[in-house]
Amino acid sequence: MKRVITYGTFDLFHQGHYNILKRARELGDYLIVGVTSESYDIERGKLNVQDSLLKRIENVRKTGFADEIIVEEYQGQKLSDITKYNIDLLVVGSDWRGKFDYLKNYCQVVYLERTKNISSTKLRSEGTIFSVGIVTDDTEDNGMVMESKFVSGLHVESVYSEDIFVAREFCDRYELDSYGTDYERFLGGLDIIYIKSAQKNRTDYIRRALERGKYVISDTPMTLNPEEMEELFALAREHRVVLVEKLTLVYLRAFTQLVWLTHGALVGDVVAVKCAVSQDDFEGGKNFNETVSQALCACIKLLGKDYLEVNTNAVKGSDGEFIYDMITVKYPRALATIEIGTTVDVENELVIIGSKGRITVPNDWWNTGYFEAKVEGQEFLKRYSFNFEGNGLRYLLQELMIMIRDRRTECTRFFYEESETLAELLKTIDQRG
Ligand code: CTP
Repeated sequence: MKRVITYGTFDLFHQGHYNILKRARELGDYLIVGVTSESYDIERGKLNVQDSLLKRIENVRKTGFADEIIVEEYQGQKLSDITKYNIDLLVVGSDWRGKFDYLKNYCQVVYLERTKNISSTKLRSEGTIFSVGIVTDDTEDNGMVMESKFVSGLHVESVYSEDIFVAREFCDRYELDSYGTDYERFLGGLDIIYIKSAQKNRTDYIRRALERGKYVISDTPMTLNPEEMEELFALAREHRVVLVEKLTLVYLRAFTQLVWLTHGALVGDVVAVKCAVSQDDFEGGKNFNETVSQALCACIKLLGKDYLEVNTNAVKGSDGEFIYDMITVKYPRALATIEIGTTVDVENELVIIGSKGRITVPNDWWNTGYFEAKVEGQEFLKRYSFNFEGNGLRYLLQELMIMIRDRRTECTRFFYEESETLAELLKTIDQRG
């Protein structure tokens, strides 16, 4: 009996998929189909998959060609499957020609011609494309234009600035379709508005975009006034759209996993969270409020919203400017300390100290694919590593696409109440002498 195996994502199941499964089955007596898992696709940077794993499996099953369906969960699994399932032949499409020749020592490898003029990518691009507009007062992109290219279904179309020269230059530089200085007109044809202009104008831009029923991503903090923040979220709910803060940290797989493991008591009860950031290293030097927001976001995710008090201690240089800040947020049974090197260098690091060990995210922890845990009673460090590319924005955009598609009206990565807590903390910190 000849045993055949083939793999794929099989997203938006199409004729090309049907053909390859049929031909693969005809090449043997028993066909195993490996369908990629969601986490494996994210790991390998394939962020645009639309159908769930169950739906993709179901579509493969319905063809009737698969005798067995398995899930492909990690890189290197093919070799393990070939041995485990006693495979004689691996079949893949011609787009992979040569890529699996290294498996020829273990089984026969056949590359079949792809069906012409059809692919999941093509089908995705024929679906609804959401247009994005950027509100800015400088000509630097922050990565939005670049990162959006990794998320299918999004197109950055136009830019708005109060200053026509800035708008025009931004538009030319990033090859957008249009630019404008009339905000209401600019909002007209767009679905998503990304607001990166100076904080003093942000609230007004956000409010007006929400009133027009647009999804909004805003640089953080959106406002330093918690009541105003509440109003903005109420407006988003009223217009059934989502307002998202650009806190990329909460969209990273490594950070989400770290939060789950911490809440699952990997290192026992959390006693302290320490995070340190050199402001110069944070996204190429962001202002103090933006830098501290990312750190507060980590503390809120790890320790919750119910803090008791927040204190700040700062060092000023001879010119009266802040050069170093130490912020402590006290919780009933834990303490968060945030160290910001405004002009001085501090060692970037996030450490969670628990009653039974510690978790460390070294270096640029706000942009990470890695962390390690030292658990009491275990001799070795446990290392966790995830694929991470870009500046994190693509993961936020991908999530926003899902929110729009599923017609969600609240962001579940960073809840509105968490944003309100963040604004409350920032307001106190901002009043530091
Ligand atoms: N395939 C094919 N003909 C096509 C599309 C896909 O023979 N027109 C084959 C691929 O070569 C692969 C299998 O079907 O062996 C599963 O492909 P998959 O990557 O899931 O589909 P694509 O349409 O290529 O997806 P994408 O556009 O996202 O890369």
